[in-house]
Amino acid sequence: DWTMAEFRATKIAEIREQVGEGKVICGLSGGVDSAVAAVLIHEAIGEQLTCVFVDHGLLRAGEAEQVVGLFRGHYNIPLVHVDAEERFMSGLAGETDPERKRKFIGKTFIDVFEEEARRIGGADFLAQGTLYPDVIESVSFTGGPSVTIKSHHNVGGLPERMDMALVEPLRELFKDEVRDLGRELGLPDVFVGRHPFPGPGLAIRIPGAVDKARADILRKADAIYLEEIRNAGLYDAIWQAFAVLLPVRTVGVMGDHRTYDYVCALRAVTSTDGMTADVYPFDASFLTRTATRIVNEVQGINRVVYDYTSKPPGTIEWE
Ligand code: XMP
Repeated sequence: DWTMAEFRATKIAEIREQVGEGKVICGLSGGVDSAVAAVLIHEAIGEQLTCVFVDHGLLRAGEAEQVVGLFRGHYNIPLVHVDAEERFMSGLAGETDPERKRKFIGKTFIDVFEEEARRIGGADFLAQGTLYPDVIESVSFTGGPSVTIKSHHNVGGLPERMDMALVEPLRELFKDEVRDLGRELGLPDVFVGRHPFPGPGLAIRIPGAVDKARADILRKADAIYLEEIRNAGLYDAIWQAFAVLLPVRTVGVMGDHRTYDYVCALRAVTSTDGMTADVYPFDASFLTRTATRIVNEVQGINRVVYDYTSKPPGTIEWE
């Protein structure tokens, strides 16, 4: 009978075996997967691990503080916090192609990890929280011909050449199993229960060109949406919920003047592994209340729509 306690012990032995005396850099994205991978690897090899949290300026509101707090405060695991917003934003400037955005972000993450590795005198391994569905989806779409739908930042988005070998202890696991493992490792429930968040972050929730102004607008709308979801007690019933900022402006009216601002789309889905997904059926009153708050409180958005597409044929993220 297979338990998470056994999985934990087996993986710890495997990590020790693979890494030996080597040094490991672990990239934290703010999500559950990379946090669980980091805690597991830290348990296996302790000081041989350095965690690097890259803030690309494309995180959700409050996310950097939460991750840094968890690692430095709760676990006392050393963490390098790299502020790379300017670098990511300038590299993304004017880029509108979804795959090129993903590739740039994946490559820049690796560049930052390699720089941090040099700073600690070299690292032999790069650890990532890659899950089983990430592996499959980057290779081919379920049941279809071998076509890349999206270059996942954890897998296919990495550059060919890289000085470090990969350590990916969660490669056989699905999301619910990673959450069980996280609980087994003592991660707080609020952290373990967080919705998945993609490595490329808000960049793939801003179709078209990304800049700081748009990311700031999106962060505000997303925070309001999630606050309403939590207030309604729906957070745990939903696999993933987020706002998307469309590169389209429409005409509106506020008070006695005309507005000409962006459209915000809201997405919420249920799923068990992210490979297929159903639209979450909010009450009309929930959507009305949330749309009203977003338009009233977020300067730059004057219209809100709800995405009614399941996966397939839609993907969960918009890019
Ligand atoms: P899609 O949009 O492909 O997303 O239906 C399926 C799940 O994967 C997440 N996702 C990513 N996670 N790196 C990640 O770590 C990525 O590049 C990436 N792209 C999508 C997405 O949020 C959803 O949970």
